[in-house]
Amino acid sequence: MTGVKELAYVVYEVSDLADWEHFAITLLGMQLGERTDSGFTLRTDEKAHRWIVTEGPADDLVRSGYEVASAEALDALVATLTAAGVEVTEGDAALAAARKVERLVLVADPMGNQIELVTGLADAETPFNSGALLGEFVTGAGGAGHQVLLSKGVSREEYLAFYQGLLGFKISDIIIEELAPGIVADLIFLHCNPRHHSVAFGDMPHPKKTHHFMVEVTDIRDVGMAWDRCLQAGQPFEMTLGMHPNDNMFSFYVRTPSGFAVEYGWGGLLIDDATWEVKTLDRLNNWGHHPMDAEVAWLSAGIAKEAQH
Ligand SMILES: [Fe+2]
Repeated sequence: MTGVKELAYVVYEVSDLADWEHFAITLLGMQLGERTDSGFTLRTDEKAHRWIVTEGPADDLVRSGYEVASAEALDALVATLTAAGVEVTEGDAALAAARKVERLVLVADPMGNQIELVTGLADAETPFNSGALLGEFVTGAGGAGHQVLLSKGVSREEYLAFYQGLLGFKISDIIIEELAPGIVADLIFLHCNPRHHSVAFGDMPHPKKTHHFMVEVTDIRDVGMAWDRCLQAGQPFEMTLGMHPNDNMFSFYVRTPSGFAVEYGWGGLLIDDATWEVKTLDRLNNWGHHPMDAEVAWLSAGIAKEAQH
């Protein structure tokens, strides 16, 4: 394998560290990794960290760490990128140490998203222990989860040339849905391991680089309990419970303190490349995933109707 094998970690720059700590640990059920000079790290499994949270004004994704299988695979990937004219910068020892990886190289995708290609993300020194989950987060061969990024006007050909042509991702499927007259959601989903997608790209107006990060849990009850914790804490929801037709994820979307979302899911489909067929679907959801504003309007209308009887 010469390409990327998993989404290993993400780095977020956030303006309110305390809010993020509460959100990630108390509401989502992550575990504090360690405090750093600029923030803290978060664990969802045996690895040292999966989210690295640093203080700053961006309130957005600032780096994505993708792991490759070996030093040889990273050498081959660097050669491929360099031959294609992509600028590759070797990360220094201090950065590799901070990321707890053996080696790290920096590249940027065509949208300008900063990527760290790494080997050997270290395990933490203690077992993973969530204070909130009944089960566990689903990671392993599927990596940390998935993220949906915005294409920011860059053509699909151009970013696929990078992610598919150079990093080795495969297309899972495409969803094109007309949400309203003239408003079309057009997303493409890419995988690099059995997880249905590790990254997807959407062509839609959005102020951030990232639309959401998905964490998956092994126990469906943890989706409901996380929903309850977010509801009780007054954390704003992006979308109600629902299910996607491509990865079959049963999930809800809650807004992070930085405004982009987290998808909290269960039951995601795994891809077997030997039998998988790429399809284009025409809807984002089998059911649910209603925008929360619309849901609140329906509930309010229902309550008003009740009051009339
Ligand atoms: Fe998602």
